[in-house]
Amino acid sequence: MAEKAMNKAGAPETNGVPRHIAIILDGNGRWAKKRGLPRTAGHAVGSETFRKIATYCKDIGVEYLTVYAFSTENWNRPGDEVSAIMKLLGKYLHEAIDTMERDHIRMKVLGDVEGLPPQLQALVAKTDEISRRYEGFQANICLNYGGRDEIVRAARRYAADYAAGKADTLTEADFGNYLYSAGIPDPDLLIRPGGEQRISNFLLWQCAYAEFYFTDVLWPDFTPEELDKAIAEFNRRDRRYGKVKNP
Ligand code: IPE
Ligand code: IPE
Ligand code: MG
Repeated sequence: MAEKAMNKAGAPETNGVPRHIAIILDGNGRWAKKRGLPRTAGHAVGSETFRKIATYCKDIGVEYLTVYAFSTENWNRPGDEVSAIMKLLGKYLHEAIDTMERDHIRMKVLGDVEGLPPQLQALVAKTDEISRRYEGFQANICLNYGGRDEIVRAARRYAADYAAGKADTLTEADFGNYLYSAGIPDPDLLIRPGGEQRISNFLLWQCAYAEFYFTDVLWPDFTPEELDKAIAEFNRRDRRYGKVKNP
């Protein structure tokens, strides 16, 4: 990997490639509907798109890719859609375990894992175990994830540590260590395909200074070329972090 450069605002990146890209995987249902297919067909194609984009990110030198695959609010969808998504996630994780071993990819699930079906929990434990053996590109998959839920859980865990005398100060950095994303740098670029321009409870804490990129392309149609476009736009942005550019 090329040596780390600092961009003009001081954010870490490598040759214009954001260190951490986050993506809200949206538009699967509409993609399927347009073709007269059940929504679940869109989720199946969407999981293939994730596979392709994760490989592409690894190849161009992105260090972290974090995707939003199932939110704490998505349980409110019809039962058959939720079970189809859980089944697909199981299939995906199962296959990903082989890929991880072959390509030395780290994978981490962020979210309330205990709220997932037991088979999925076992697969998550297995991916964690494999990830511990490798270094390099890391894919984070947000499952049963909600930004507010993450913050509330972190606050509870901090309060418990405080009560037990295991914590006393509380800085932003300390609090970050109680989040699911502990140890992972904040996203530099957040991409939302599917045409909506909202954050839908994704990485509320971590996206404080992320650059947002929205596109109408539906997730199953998303390609490496689309990612290149988002990165090109990212490189035209001026990240000031509250400072003045030329004082
Ligand atoms: C994203 O696609 C996948 C999940 C939220 C699980 P959607 O299923 O939200 O697709 P649209 O937005 O209805 O097209
Ligand atoms: C956000 O998409 C959640 C995921 C992609 C997992 P949604 O489709 O659930 O979001 P809304 O309902 O359009 O805000
Ligand atoms: Mg949607």
